[in-house]
Amino acid sequence: MRTGALLCAILFSTIHSVIGSPTVAAATSYPDPLPLEGPFFFVHDPSMLQRQSDGRYFLFTTHDKAGILTAEEIQGPWTEIGSILPNNSTIQLPGRDDIWAPDVSFYDGRYYAYYSVSTFGSQNSAIGLATSATMDAGTWSDHGLVINSTAGDEYNCIDPSLHIGADGIPRLTFGSFWDNIFQVELGSNLQTVVSQPEQLSYNATDPHPEEGSFIWQHGQYYYLFISSGTCCGFDPQNLPSPGGQVFVGRSSSPSGPFVDKSGVDMRESGGALVLASHGNVYAPGGQVVFNDNKLGRDVFAYHYVPVNSPSPYNDSYASLGLNGIDWSSGWPVLTSL
Ligand SMILES: *[C@@H]1O[C@H](CO)[C@@H](O)[C@H](O)[C@H]1NC(C)=O
Ligand SMILES: *[C@@H]1O[C@H](CO)[C@@H](O)[C@H](O)[C@H]1NC(C)=O
Ligand SMILES: *[C@@H]1O[C@H](CO)[C@@H](O)[C@H](O)[C@H]1NC(C)=O
Ligand SMILES: *[C@@H]1O[C@H](CO)[C@@H](O)[C@H](O)[C@H]1NC(C)=O
Ligand SMILES: *[C@@H]1O[C@H](CO)[C@@H](O)[C@H](O)[C@H]1NC(C)=O
Repeated sequence: MRTGALLCAILFSTIHSVIGSPTVAAATSYPDPLPLEGPFFFVHDPSMLQRQSDGRYFLFTTHDKAGILTAEEIQGPWTEIGSILPNNSTIQLPGRDDIWAPDVSFYDGRYYAYYSVSTFGSQNSAIGLATSATMDAGTWSDHGLVINSTAGDEYNCIDPSLHIGADGIPRLTFGSFWDNIFQVELGSNLQTVVSQPEQLSYNATDPHPEEGSFIWQHGQYYYLFISSGTCCGFDPQNLPSPGGQVFVGRSSSPSGPFVDKSGVDMRESGGALVLASHGNVYAPGGQVVFNDNKLGRDVFAYHYVPVNSPSPYNDSYASLGLNGIDWSSGWPVLTSL
């Protein structure tokens, strides 16, 4: 979901003093994100992967009709080359000109981009699909609707992510707020929904602030990552707050149940903390994992608001965070990259 709220300088200095306090710093420490080269660029809800043909890095983000950025090296410089849907989505819902949270994967010779059409705070939402052979701007074909939600449904159809498990079944995981994270199975065209939505994760505490789900397989487990935090971590009514945080659970099946380190099911508010606000990083979320074949390791990509952003803060300051992952404990631990 996009960051709708604006923060003022006073809120930022409050956050800064809280996350800089010795108590918080002593409890957990996180590695800083990789310093990026080149001019600043806006990123929210990143999706990241390398092109099969030439290893080039591609990054997709919310807004700009699903913006496409590319780079030769992971640290940049990154260049915006266009949009997945420059002519808007063909899905006839409000928000078709302001695409959120694209999720891009390579499958059977093509790139599949799932995207969300919605408006802030509304359950009148849909997930659509576009495909391309190369990921370049101007090459994406919109195939329209995959699944939608309306008021009264248990779920909200935003923040899609595709995962194809060892069983070969394509699964689309999605959701935000309401009853949180759900999953459906897709047919072999990767567009037709062939099962009822099943809940994977639920935070019982109002306002049930989970979104941005992503599944990644490592070893014998599937890991479900979620972003937790009200409206991308900003709750001007309730500061100081920790801002957005990333939690994980794991399962031997890509359809769950996913449990945290204490064995608590993610449908019962479980979740092991992966990343929280620290140092210059506020409200990390929108996370994905990809295997970087140039670096030969898994990379954790997310958005965050730099605490030192110019004030007044607005959504245009959301930045790309990149870290490595140490899987040796059987749980993802972030490292420097
Ligand atoms: C996309 O949506 C915007 C805003 O609704 C509209 O002005 C524009 O004409 C649309 N573009 C196309 C190609 O339909
Ligand atoms: C957008 O619409 C224009 C005008 O109809 C067309 O030339 C262009 O190919 C379209 N772009 C995409 C990516 O569909
Ligand atoms: C969304 O779903 C409802 C109920 O299934 C349906 O009536 C409606 O046409 C759908 N909206 C879109 C844009 O497909
Ligand atoms: C659940 O939501 C509460 C309230 O926002 C938050 O404090 C907590 O960290 C969340 N837990 C998980 C696992 O998302
Ligand atoms: C947000 O800040 C950027 C950079 O200063 C500016 O270009 C943009 O117009 C601002 N947007 C809003 C909505 O204020």
